[in-house]
Parts: sequence; C-alpha cells; structure tokens
Amino acid sequence: MTYINQLSSHEDESVTLKGWVYNSRSSKAIHFIELRDGTGLCQCIVALDEVGEEAFEAAGTLKQESSVEITGKVVKDDRSVGGYELHASGVKVIQVAENYPITPKDHGVEFLMENRHLWLRSRRQWAAMQVRNTIQFAIHRFFQQEGFIQMDAPIFTGNAAEGTTTLFETEYFDEKAYLTQSGQLYGEAMAMAHGKIYTFGPTFRAEKSKTRRHLTEFWMIEPEMAFYDLDMNMDLAEKMLQFVVKTVLDEKRAELEILERDISVLEKAAAEPFKRISYTEAVEQLKSDKTANMLEQMETDRKEELESIQTELEEIKKEHGSAKKWRKAQIDQRIKEIHARIDQIEEDLRNIPVWKKSAAGFEWGADFGGSDETILTMQYDTPVMVHRYPAEVKAFYMKRDPEDESLALALDVLAPEGYGEIVGGSQREDSLEILQERIAEHDLPEDLFNWYLDLRKFGSVPHSGFGLGLERTVAWICGLTHVRETIPFPRMLGRLRP
Ligand code: 4AD
Ligand code: MG
Repeated sequence: MTYINQLSSHEDESVTLKGWVYNSRSSKAIHFIELRDGTGLCQCIVALDEVGEEAFEAAGTLKQESSVEITGKVVKDDRSVGGYELHASGVKVIQVAENYPITPKDHGVEFLMENRHLWLRSRRQWAAMQVRNTIQFAIHRFFQQEGFIQMDAPIFTGNAAEGTTTLFETEYFDEKAYLTQSGQLYGEAMAMAHGKIYTFGPTFRAEKSKTRRHLTEFWMIEPEMAFYDLDMNMDLAEKMLQFVVKTVLDEKRAELEILERDISVLEKAAAEPFKRISYTEAVEQLKSDKTANMLEQMETDRKEELESIQTELEEIKKEHGSAKKWRKAQIDQRIKEIHARIDQIEEDLRNIPVWKKSAAGFEWGADFGGSDETILTMQYDTPVMVHRYPAEVKAFYMKRDPEDESLALALDVLAPEGYGEIVGGSQREDSLEILQERIAEHDLPEDLFNWYLDLRKFGSVPHSGFGLGLERTVAWICGLTHVRETIPFPRMLGRLRP
C-alpha cells in the first residue's frame, strides 16, 4: 500500500491506494474519483477499457465517503491537486457509504459542529489539523533544542492558579478538586529542580463567554526558566514563535494554500523582530486619533465592499439559469464565497461601533478586552509584545516592576490582524514575604499554597515563564476566524458533544 503523499517517488509505477471517495463524476466510459487517504488527495481515472465491466460498474456505485482500494499507474499531471493522477487498473470496493450528510453545498456551522466527527474529513479541516500537528511538533523541537526538558503538571489540582472565577470543580474522593487552569505553579517547582522546563498539556477554564477565542478545554505550552528576567522571557517567546511560524512555512505550504492563508504575514512574522510596547503605550495607541480614523475608514470600506459584492451576487444569480454545467458549478462556488464574505462584513459592521466606543472610552488600569486586542492588533502585521500591565488586573504571582510598583512585570504576545493574545507570561515574585502578602490580598487560602511558598524558602531565584495557547496560535497561523476549528473536538460553552 502506498500513501498519496508518497506518490512523487513512484512516478510511472503501479501502486495501490486505500482511502475514501472525496468526490466523483462520471462520463460514459470514465469515472473520475477524487480519493483521499488522510495524507492528501489524488484524482483516480477509472476507465472502462482498463478495469473491465465489473470493476467499472462497482466504481460507479461509489457515493461520497465510500471506502475503496484502487490500483493503478502513477502519472504526473501538474493540473491535478497533488500533482499526480492514478490511471486505474483495478478497483476494489470496501464499503459503499450511506448518503453522506456533509455535501459540497453550504452548511451552517451548527450543523457542521454537530457532525464534527465527520467534518474532520473535509479539506479545510484536514489542512488545519495537519498544521496543528506541525506546530505541536515544532514546539517540542524548539524547546528540546534549547535545552529544556518536558515535564507534566497534574490535571487534578487542589488550588487555583489563574483566579477563582473560571475553575471547574470536581470530586476527588472525599475532597474538592479542580481541573487545572495552568501548569505554571508546578512548572516553577520543576524549574527549580531542572533549570529550564516546559509543560504541554490540556488546561481548563469554566469560561462563560461565547467568543471566537474561548474554549473550556485547551492545550497550553508553559516554559518556566530559573534565572530568567522579563526581557529574557520576551526574547524566548519571540524566538519560539518565529521558529514555529518558520517551520509551518517550510513544511505546510500546501495546507496553508488550502486554507487560503495570506503567507506574506507569516513570512514577516518569521523574519522581523516583534514590536515591544508597554501597556501604557498600548493604551495611548488605543485612544489615539489614528485608531479612531482607522475604524472610521474601515467602516466606509466595508460598506462599499458590501454594496459591490451584493451587485455581483445579483448578476451571477441571473447568469445561473442559462449557464452551462461547468459554469453553474463555478457560480455556486462563488455564491458560497460571497455569502461567507457578506457574513463577515456584516459582523464587522455590527462590531465597529462597539470597537469605537470601547477604544475611545478605555481607561488606564483596565485589562484589555477582546475588542481592544482586536483593534490594537489590526494595526500590526507582526506579533506585538505588550509588557508591564497594571498589577491590579494580573495574577497574584507576578513580580512588580521595581521602577513602578503599580505595574506587574507581565508580558502578553498579541497576534496581529486582529487575533489578539496568544501568550501570557511574567517574571515571578521571588520574595516569600511579598508573595504571602499577595496571597492574602487575593483572598487565596494560604495553606493550599504552602508547597508553592516553599520554593521561596529554599534557594529562591529570579525566574520567569509564559503560557502559549495552542488553539489560538493555530487559529492565527491558519487564518481561521474561530478556535472551534483548531482542535479536533472543541469544548466550549454549550458544546460537549460529539
Ligand atoms: O494568560 P493566561 O491565563 O496565562 C496563564 O495561564 C499563565 N499561568 C501562563 C504562564 O505564565 N505559565 O493563559 C495563557 C494563554 C493565553 O495567552 C491564551 O493563548 C490561552 O492560554 N488561553 C486560552 N485559549 C483558549 N481558550 C481559553 N479560554 C483560554 N484562556 C487562555
Ligand atoms: Mg492572559
């Protein structure tokens, strides 16, 4: 058996492919079967003359997603999807599928989510998961090359790490337990044992917000480094992200193309240093005339685009009635694209007034909301690092800026193009007394943190770390508008199945 992504090394040979029918069309004496096998797509040409009547007829019964084995000669063809075609000499049907619910027509997203177990087979979903895998592996490679060791933090925990409002509570025999929000506090203990560590695991937040950025279960990568200050922490976050983006560009071009990702943005992110601005500078930018004008301009642009795209829609709908079959298919495809674009524009037009208000009315001291991050990062085409946030809005464990005690030595990496936060991190408080005070200020039960305080009693050192959200990173790199398409089976508010 050969896989489709290996066809280039089998040119002119006879091979057997095993997979599923992605698409098919037939003429009198030829079936064109687009086969997918998990590694790619290949057009198989099944000609009556070549395979004989019985196999030809069997191939004709194959509905979408039927499973099949096709043997044939590998022929180079630049016009076909993967660059190769298979000229079949034999067809063996494994199972004829029932009517497949996901057809090339336009389905609503709720329907697709209900059928996530099948939707995963669709081309764009396939491409996104392929990129996700490359990102995961690149992250491991990066940290291993940099001398980090991977250590795993527990999922059942006895205490909160990131505020008590988003904890999932569960029973642990006779005790209360929580699903971990972050492996960080354990990461700090492990860094004191091994110097540089990273965790890579699932984390949980009972987020009651239904947004395109929030999952209740997501994967986080959390490096923690002894003897690192905030600047070293920022350097590391930048180097890691650039390595990841570069790896995806090197290895996953075809998938990015399927996703219609604008690669120029990724190329820039991989090559140019990230902008670093303080929270205070970010607030000034948010409230500036420049931002207000940009939003004004955006509103005008969107309205104009909406008008012209609606005109186009009416025109091609008129053309549809008398169009030839091939042209009809083209028009259907374009209509689908136009509807998607109209949805997007209408959403923007609903959002822009909200964004305007949020930006103009922003007060120093508040945390950035989703809208604020969107507005800020729409103005950048490479990731931007925002540092030194008001301590009030950040976690208890962050060290204060010695130059201004009201600030925490925090960093967030915001992905450009409106994506927003993908990394959150900080230098950690290393003084026992101060940390005890903070725990009290945050109304956290000190006894649960005794083990964590021990780290400040026995060889406390300056140290730092951050957490990278895998799904938000996948969303940005793939150019997906919602995190629900970045993980095989998303868990969100109102979504526990399939
Ligand atoms: O900013 P957060 O809350 O930081 C921490 O948890 C720190 N303890 C990390 C550390 O310093 N070791 O979360 C880190 C990242 C965010 O930047 C975001 O990318 C992702 O985790 N994230 C989420 N992703 C999807 N859905 C959610 N509900 C998320 N909450 C956070
Ligand atoms: Mg954060």
